[in-house]
Amino acid sequence: MNILEFREVSKFYNQDSLGVCDLSFSVKKGEIVALAGPSGSGKTTALNIAAGLDDFTQGDVRLFDQSLQNLLPHEVLNLRRNDVGFIFQAYNLFPVLTVLENVEYPLALKGVRFQERIIKAKECIREVGLEGLENRLPSELSGGQQQRVAVARALVSEPKIIFADEPTANLDTATAEKLLLLFRELNDKNGTTFIFSSHDPRVLKLADRVIVLADGRLMN
Ligand SMILES: Nc1ncnc2c1ncn2[C@@H]1O[C@H](COP(=O)(O)OP(=O)(O)O)[C@@H](O)[C@H]1O
Ligand SMILES: [Mg+2]
Repeated sequence: MNILEFREVSKFYNQDSLGVCDLSFSVKKGEIVALAGPSGSGKTTALNIAAGLDDFTQGDVRLFDQSLQNLLPHEVLNLRRNDVGFIFQAYNLFPVLTVLENVEYPLALKGVRFQERIIKAKECIREVGLEGLENRLPSELSGGQQQRVAVARALVSEPKIIFADEPTANLDTATAEKLLLLFRELNDKNGTTFIFSSHDPRVLKLADRVIVLADGRLMN
């Protein structure tokens, strides 16, 4: 079953700025797929569109077999809160919140009770290997550890699909590979689908499949 499908999707940011063009691809449930391509090739645009964070100009995007255009804004928001995790390139952690508070935040948005939030957040923190660091602030962590907090935050609501925009861009090779192995572990255990962008050949080889973009178009 396809969990995500792009059908001839184009996005123009404005008259002379093309994000993606005629992009068609699909991702099956449980796959780990990488979007590759040089800077400016449309990776971020494609991920943002897929996650319902950004709109598009032409074509059709189906997420969980629902056409994103046919959903109302609050339905897209619900889908994102319940079934989609997103890991941003710059982590986007709240600097004044502790690790635990950052990770439980998506559950607070969903109205989950405090006790349950704490239990689930601690579980995810353990899963990404950050047990014991719950009360640290992001500024007291290394880049790799901050990235793991971002992963735990994406995991906490048990999404079916996780999008990660260049999750290894700021990490050394060993830490980057560990992060990809963590994706694989979570994929094995929970069946979570992962779509990440990268231009690092060392992490691309850890994906099940690589989709290559150039100038907003599909290369392979
Ligand atoms: N907010 C924006 N406004 C105008 N053009 C944009 C915007 N974001 C991206 N683009 C353009 O869209 C194209 C794809 O960019 P992007 O998706 O960020 O690529 P990548 O993530 O692969 O580096 C680039 O030509 C870029 O300049
Ligand atoms: Mg990008």
